[in-house]
Amino acid sequence: MIWIETPTNPLLKVIDIAAIVAIAKSHRNILVVVDNTFLMPYLQRPLDFGADIVLYSLTKYMNGHLDVIMGAAVVNDDVLEEKLRFLQNAMGVVPSPIDCYLVNRSLKTLALRMEKHQKSSYIIAKWLENHPKVTEVLHPGIPSHPQHKIAKKQMSGHSGVFSFKHSGGLEESKKFLSSHKVFILAESLGRYESLAELPSVMTHASVPEKQRVELGITDSLIRLSVGLEDTEDLIEDLDQAFKAAF
Ligand SMILES: *Cc1c(COP(=O)(O)O)cnc(C)c1O
Ligand SMILES: *[C@@H]1O[C@H](CO)[C@@H](O)[C@H](O)[C@H]1NC(C)=O
Repeated sequence: MIWIETPTNPLLKVIDIAAIVAIAKSHRNILVVVDNTFLMPYLQRPLDFGADIVLYSLTKYMNGHLDVIMGAAVVNDDVLEEKLRFLQNAMGVVPSPIDCYLVNRSLKTLALRMEKHQKSSYIIAKWLENHPKVTEVLHPGIPSHPQHKIAKKQMSGHSGVFSFKHSGGLEESKKFLSSHKVFILAESLGRYESLAELPSVMTHASVPEKQRVELGITDSLIRLSVGLEDTEDLIEDLDQAFKAAF
């Protein structure tokens, strides 16, 4: 099994799904699994590029209202479906009716929400690119992203999740994150509210330090999940947090 996540968390590297599928299919019995939680089927459809299983944390954008924890594995193959259904039944990983109801309700506004997340995150990424304290913006939708071409090939847009690096260190990151008035300091992503976090000490603290450094998950790497608030309010919030931190 080849298990990928694209774009990756928290560095937003884009992996060419069709290229991975081509490698897998040149061998016998290798499944390709794609975690599509950052984009949802609205912005990327890995089955169309030959993936066997697409995974979602529906907790994130699909539900988006922070009142459900749920996931999905999506296939377009009857044999695989039967195997997964057997496992689901045997392990008891069955969501409750109310959770199913809530996710189905949220699905009705997925397109509208993704459009807003997408537009706002692009404007904020462009604003950050021009900020004197920002050294790198990791957003697949902007042309300076190293895999922007692959992103354009397989994604119809990018969501609200992206990262950036600033010229300070741990102290500046802490001050920046504790100065926010709109962004909430929290892990998770894909909600109507905007979230900001420091992967090196929060979501990715369990990755050994040596590996974190190799990957570039430094103390100056901030991950954002741009929510549905007014874009100008979010930019103003980032602006005042930079002023408080530096
Ligand atoms: C949050 C997340 C998960 C885990 O999902 P839960 O619904 O919180 O259990 C898996 N993959 C990605 C990419 C995520 O962001
Ligand atoms: C989802 O909502 C639609 C429209 O309200 C309804 O027709 C459908 O049965 C629901 N699906 C599930 C699985 O409940």
